[in-house]
Amino acid sequence: MKRIIALFLMSVVLCQAQDYEFPPGFLFGVASASYQVEGAWNTSDKTESIWDYLTHTNPSVILDNSNGDIACDTYSKTDIDVELLKNLGVDTYRFSLSWPRILPNGYNDYIDQDGVSYYNKLIDSLLANGITPVVTIFHWELPQSLQEIGNGWLNRDTVDVFVDYADVVFSLFGDRVTTWITFNEPHIFCEFGYSKARMAPLMNLDGIGGYECAHNLLLANGRTYRLYNEKYREIQQGRVGITLDAAWYEPGSDSEDDVLAAERSMQMLLGWVAHPIYSETGNYPAVMRERVDAMSEAEGYQTSRLPYFTDEEVEIIKGSADFFGLNHYTTELCAAADSFDSEPSFEADSGANCYFSDNWETTGASQFRVVPWGFRKLLNWIKSEYNNPEVIITENGYGDNTGDLHDCRRIYFYNAYLSELLKAITEDGCNVSGYHAWTFMDNFEWASGYTIKFGLYNVDFNDPDRPRTAKMSAYNYKNIIQTRKVDWSYTPEGFEACEWE
Ligand code: NOJ
Repeated sequence: MKRIIALFLMSVVLCQAQDYEFPPGFLFGVASASYQVEGAWNTSDKTESIWDYLTHTNPSVILDNSNGDIACDTYSKTDIDVELLKNLGVDTYRFSLSWPRILPNGYNDYIDQDGVSYYNKLIDSLLANGITPVVTIFHWELPQSLQEIGNGWLNRDTVDVFVDYADVVFSLFGDRVTTWITFNEPHIFCEFGYSKARMAPLMNLDGIGGYECAHNLLLANGRTYRLYNEKYREIQQGRVGITLDAAWYEPGSDSEDDVLAAERSMQMLLGWVAHPIYSETGNYPAVMRERVDAMSEAEGYQTSRLPYFTDEEVEIIKGSADFFGLNHYTTELCAAADSFDSEPSFEADSGANCYFSDNWETTGASQFRVVPWGFRKLLNWIKSEYNNPEVIITENGYGDNTGDLHDCRRIYFYNAYLSELLKAITEDGCNVSGYHAWTFMDNFEWASGYTIKFGLYNVDFNDPDRPRTAKMSAYNYKNIIQTRKVDWSYTPEGFEACEWE
């Protein structure tokens, strides 16, 4: 009898979740990033970004030795792509601007009008089709020339140069673009680019480079936000936010040490950039400050490897975002790890060892597993930690290695993650206003080249025309957007039904 009641209650809960609807005003979109899709790497006066430079000079860093020289060639396919977006039914399209396409010297001394025309055409045609552009100013495409001056984001001057660049793009496009994202994933960009040599600019300064880089990005974000307030907000009436990446860190056991290790990981991976902007007190999370200061001292450093903000800087950065952009892909389990005698590194500073459960479904990307419930927990953590800010999911998606059109595991991922999102909104009161699937079409997946495919549309990279074909997941997403619900029984015409375990 007890079992029957339990089963009944479970089915009530499941039905409820399935019946939840995305609230009125909730916006659906897809996302992309300039280097991953545009191609046209040397069109007009465009110069190399750090990714052009890396892939040209050091191709073996990329798993399949490929590059973004042509990528999906979105540069010459605006009409085709906007038509696809329109058919998909999205409200928003998130894309990024290539800094060296607009300012070939990195500085604002010279603006390449061809680069500007390309983005004007894209923005205008999106708007003409009822799609709102969501524009990322920096999705990792630093002009190589700026990397060569003082090592790019390790150089405090880059903050000023970035603010000038942001000023240029606000003035060029801000009459039509009203949702801006300053930076994409400071944690990944800085750690992998400046600490771990896994991404451009391939610097290997573990325990130091990543902190310096993120420190400067935080300053640049704060200063850009203040610039927008002073010069543009009243006229353009837009919003400026930042996109942070976060896994959910679940304690590996219920021991107090593991619970603390998981919370410390949340603070150090997400709080690192989120706390200075979204907390009431500003500045780095206390636990991060304490850990890195103590580790640095034990290692014999005279000053902490984690830089300090002045009081004035804390104020500039605090509150410097109108919304919280969130990229989420996976969950990890964390156990406490004592690391006081190891080499300086972000992981040692965190004092945690995070890993996957073997029970979790793998994906085509080894760093991501499918753990839908972690999404809801993460959203609740952000809600309670930062006083329920408006969150826009700027990325969430599933990569495989095939690009197959009959992509049931991707559909499973979206249905399951969106169901958790619905619960977070409806049952927990999390303030989430929009969602972007990563990604519009298969593209250049950074160090993995074209070996991992996250697209709703398949791209044939062997064909010079780069034809795009809708996968089954594109139709499923379209149905979610239209009905504002997740329907596990939906099968698009012409496809065989998926079987859910
Ligand atoms: C986050 C990054 O913003 C995006 O560029 C990347 O392709 C996805 N993660 C998938 O790894």
